Amino acid sequence: MKGVVLAGGAGSRLRPITFAMSKQLVPVANQPILFYGLYDLAEAGITDVAIIISPETGQEIRDAVGDGSRFGIKPEFILQQSPDGLAHALQLAMPFADGDSVLMYLGDNLVRQGVSDVVRDFEEHQPNAQILLAEVPNPSAFGVAQLDEDGHVYQLLEKPADPPTNLALVGVYLFDSSVIQALDAIEPSPRGELEITDAIQYMIDAGQRVRASMIGGWWKDTGKKEDLLHASELVLETLRTSLKGEVIDSRLRGEVQVGVGSKIVDCDLIGPVVIGSGVEIERSTIGPNTTIGDGCRITDAVIRRSILMQEVEIAHWRLRDSLVGHRASIGGSAPPAFVELTVGERSEIIG
Ligand code: TTP
Repeated sequence: MKGVVLAGGAGSRLRPITFAMSKQLVPVANQPILFYGLYDLAEAGITDVAIIISPETGQEIRDAVGDGSRFGIKPEFILQQSPDGLAHALQLAMPFADGDSVLMYLGDNLVRQGVSDVVRDFEEHQPNAQILLAEVPNPSAFGVAQLDEDGHVYQLLEKPADPPTNLALVGVYLFDSSVIQALDAIEPSPRGELEITDAIQYMIDAGQRVRASMIGGWWKDTGKKEDLLHASELVLETLRTSLKGEVIDSRLRGEVQVGVGSKIVDCDLIGPVVIGSGVEIERSTIGPNTTIGDGCRITDAVIRRSILMQEVEIAHWRLRDSLVGHRASIGGSAPPAFVELTVGERSEIIG
């Protein structure tokens, strides 16, 4: 089996963060979201992996993944000129699949339990396609499945206004080589994309076997800020304390990581908190559920349930539920209350 990881797309729901960077590289607990998926594939024994990239952020993804040796995969990068849909991305990877079955993984998804179980299940039952489902409170934001009494999928709908079930398609799909006919047969949807749900529906209508299994453990599509912060919270639940930098005159509660070369002076760190390397923080309260990227400078601030990317500077502000891009700077006279921000790369906010 080969892997196809989708790391292109527009990322419009995470703007302004995704104006300048790829959403798959947003860090969750200081590791890009994309890396979790690549480790999952390697763990399931899938080492030949195509990574679909866009012209805008493809180079960034190539640089981050490198030769794949840190994950134990051999990546092949495939350029998708425009985000024409999940099925379009998979279609581009068909020459790479070269008749093998494939596992398609959406590069902005996090699957707690990994994919080893579903790969085993697919190999044991040998369906033409296998999807993973999760019960969600807001199914109209997802692809939704309807199952018959025997648990076989008979209908799939993409983001239905009136969802018939609360069973959402998780961002992991497995196909045998017969998917190629479905990909070639479908037409763009009203939103102009080749939909993977249409391809799977085509297979169902053609009498092929489409198997569904429920996901165990949690799954998160991190396409929106709130989902990203929630995913980060879920990952941080398993954090273990490790202090590699200097922590001076500070009070620590819960699990806290401080990276090499960081200096924390007169602070309250409320775990779970991950602080990268080369960070300087003074007279501030950080956490819970917060990730501070490498090289950040923070003074006299309070930061809760937020993700700060690298080299962010913050003085005096109180942030919660925020996402702050690389090298952004937030200072001047701060508002009296907590604020919730999404700040793009290199932006400057002066109060
Ligand atoms: P989506 O989140 O469905 O799409 P998007 O990235 O265009 O985001 P938004 O709706 O906010 O504009 O994509 C799921 C994953 O698949 C994500 O990692 C991006 C990737 N993708 C591609 O690689 N090619 C595509 O054509 C599309 C639509 C998505």
